[in-house]
Amino acid sequence: MSEFSISPATNSLRGAIRVPADKSITHRALMLTPLLLGETRIENFLDSETTRATLNCMRAMGAEIVEQDAATLIVRGKGLHSLQEPRDILYCLGSGTTIRLLAGICAGQHFLSVLDGTPALKRRPMGRIVEPLKQMGATILARDNDRFPPLVFRGGNLRGIEYALPVASAQVKSAVLFAGLFADSPTTVHEPAPSRDHTERMLRALGVRVENLSSTTVQLFPSPVSRPPSPIVIPADFSSAAFFIVAALLVKNSELCLENVGLNPGRTGLLDALTRMGANVQIENQRVENNEPIGDIVVSATELRATQVGGGEVPRMIDEFPIFAVAATQVVGETRVRDAQELRIKESDRVATVAQELRKMGAQIEEQEDGFVIAGPTKLRGARVNAHNDHRLAMSLAVAGLLAEGETIIEGWECVADSFPNFSELLLQVSR
Ligand code: S3P
Repeated sequence: MSEFSISPATNSLRGAIRVPADKSITHRALMLTPLLLGETRIENFLDSETTRATLNCMRAMGAEIVEQDAATLIVRGKGLHSLQEPRDILYCLGSGTTIRLLAGICAGQHFLSVLDGTPALKRRPMGRIVEPLKQMGATILARDNDRFPPLVFRGGNLRGIEYALPVASAQVKSAVLFAGLFADSPTTVHEPAPSRDHTERMLRALGVRVENLSSTTVQLFPSPVSRPPSPIVIPADFSSAAFFIVAALLVKNSELCLENVGLNPGRTGLLDALTRMGANVQIENQRVENNEPIGDIVVSATELRATQVGGGEVPRMIDEFPIFAVAATQVVGETRVRDAQELRIKESDRVATVAQELRKMGAQIEEQEDGFVIAGPTKLRGARVNAHNDHRLAMSLAVAGLLAEGETIIEGWECVADSFPNFSELLLQVSR
């Protein structure tokens, strides 16, 4: 287990940086482009532990993916029905996105496939995908009454369904839509609130008919993934930018520009919450590439005040609560997060682990069933903390360490490789 030690920021954070490519979009590009007939160039893909897991699983089903250089992949797609039975278990590591999205693809294949992963992944709930995929006609077996990995598939002969998701989840929505590609009739998915729509945008870019019937209902018409795209250029990951956004807001006199960041409306809830708190955040160079909105985020240090987060904002900032909690410890007033039970089933139980670790640094944070109550401002103090095998918790604790008095040591630092392998180098670069 590796450790990362961080001292309080002595300088402001300055400069223009590019954080690594979007994890969600990289996973989707790796899964969908092998289903095209023709070659796709994927530029600026995220090379991380979790996206490598997806790449390896796709290769194991016969996908031809060539690594041209450190940031570029060439995918030689062989068509919608070109995947082959893997010889071995498809190992998804600890990646929820890999297992849930691949489940949608495996459900559509006539062959046998088994999806499994690390002990942490084996604890993540899979009933939410097994249920709709079975309704579509796939044969699926899973451990503990069809609830946990491994997942065993013998798919094919799917029918389109109309399905209402019990929770807003882009992973579940995507699994059902992926399976819908292989079905004999349209598939309709209703969500209780909008979640990220990278899948819908990429499918449309690849020529599949996907229609929004409302802000929470999407319908997919089974059709070949037909349009050979111009290169897919993957923007920087908003969720990785989030650590630097919050750090620049909180470290005095900072001004940072985060370039080329994906601004999918299903991802930018943190910006809305921070704006309510008084943050000085501007978006420049807004444009659309590969159907995704992107822009440069310019942020400067600001005095913030507390806010409340709940309801439909939660899925729009679902991965940002660990870093949001760090921000909340520094602002005047009581910050409340509600309706965020989903945090308990992420890479760690983020309600429990965020509260437990930030408390070690002196934060006043109360755990609730569906969120937190955080009283601020608190002068944090450096401590020995643990990442709980959760990359976003690890990086949030590093930002907390920048704001603390004394040294902070983060145990289990290696998990940052899941999404942001060069986090510490970039942090050093902007704080020199
Ligand atoms: C993701 C969706 C979210 C998010 C995860 C990535 C995706 O999960 O937390 O990090 O790429 O679709 P849920 O759909 O389970 O909320």
